[in-house]
Amino acid sequence: MATRRNGESSKITVSLIKADVGSYPGHTVVHPDLLETAKREMAKAKQQKTLLDACVLNCGDDLELIMTHRKGTDNRTIHQLAWNTFETCTEVAKKLKLYGAGQDLLVDAFSGNIRGMGPGVAELEFTERKGEPLVAFMMDKTEPGAFNLPVYKMFADPFNTAGLIIDPTLHGGFDFEVWDIIESRKVLLHTPAELYDLLALIGTKSRYVIKRVWPGKGHPKLPLDEPVAAVSTEKLSLIAGEYVGKDDPVALVRSQSGLPALGEVIEPFAHGHLVSGWMRGSHNGPLMPVGFKDARCTRFDGPPRVIAAGFVLTNGALTGPVDLFDDPAFNPTRQRAAEITDYMRRHGPFEPHRLPAEDMEYTTLPKVMAKLKDRFQKAE
Ligand code: 13P
Ligand code: 13P
Ligand code: MG
Ligand code: MG
Repeated sequence: MATRRNGESSKITVSLIKADVGSYPGHTVVHPDLLETAKREMAKAKQQKTLLDACVLNCGDDLELIMTHRKGTDNRTIHQLAWNTFETCTEVAKKLKLYGAGQDLLVDAFSGNIRGMGPGVAELEFTERKGEPLVAFMMDKTEPGAFNLPVYKMFADPFNTAGLIIDPTLHGGFDFEVWDIIESRKVLLHTPAELYDLLALIGTKSRYVIKRVWPGKGHPKLPLDEPVAAVSTEKLSLIAGEYVGKDDPVALVRSQSGLPALGEVIEPFAHGHLVSGWMRGSHNGPLMPVGFKDARCTRFDGPPRVIAAGFVLTNGALTGPVDLFDDPAFNPTRQRAAEITDYMRRHGPFEPHRLPAEDMEYTTLPKVMAKLKDRFQKAE
């Protein structure tokens, strides 16, 4: 726990809290009026000194609040601020008759902590270093497990992160905090020693998700009790008990100087790996890294997208954002993702384009099965 004066910490907290509170047309993008409203609310909170700084973005239909402050993670005031901002934006969305107004606000009233209430949350509290590069990743039309492969590659795969070989300060490896989101339990696994155990879990990406990454034991440059990456793990269907939109996730990743370099942090997204989500949250498809302006899921409500906003922290101020995937070096990835989209689409309702039965549990498909239930007869 950091030193606290007047409830304020010497450490900086970055809180990335997001929700889909209405979009147009269908599930495509956040309306400019909602972005304006959110920016106004954030500016007010800055003026009142609740926040040090804030940046409002959207990834497709998801409204993203990137906030800095000194109040620590899971702070009631900050979570309430995000909740109130989403509620205010919902009112605007209702007036405009946007699709799914208030979609991710699953409860009627805020009760202390926004986790478990619908919005997605990724938070990091740490001592700001001399240079503090930070990347906020935001995805649309997919689920938290979509971060498993790229975050694994950033912090544990030497074929991705050259620093794991070249830089001795990275040789102690990193610790992965993995959550079982079905049974609400967690486990800490050390890499490189427990790499195979880690992969045995996180390959099951709809259940085991990387929640945080910590510096490995004896890291020469970083406090061991300060996380270096955090992912939102909220699963809407597990909260609401039915399909209410996908759990479009976000992540915060710190970089450089004893951590993966910035280019090593974004390199895993050159893969365009397969993730689940897309149309009706029911299909597998390639994750396409795009610039902010292309974070618009149109074709078959997809394919799923990821944007990356790069910042440096300047005494808590967010210097940026730099639109990191707005780079022709990612054109081949995007082209390949478009080709994979064609290929996957040709399967129509067949697996593995459509998700397997167990992942369809929270969609409307069980209603179709129920309709047929009495028609089945015993087969010889
Ligand atoms: P640092 O160790 O200072 O992060 O430098 C590594 C680097 O930037 C290589 O690309
Ligand atoms: P979102 O989760 O982005 O709202 O998308 C829902 C959907 O059903 C898309 O087809
Ligand atoms: Mg939506
Ligand atoms: Mg979305």
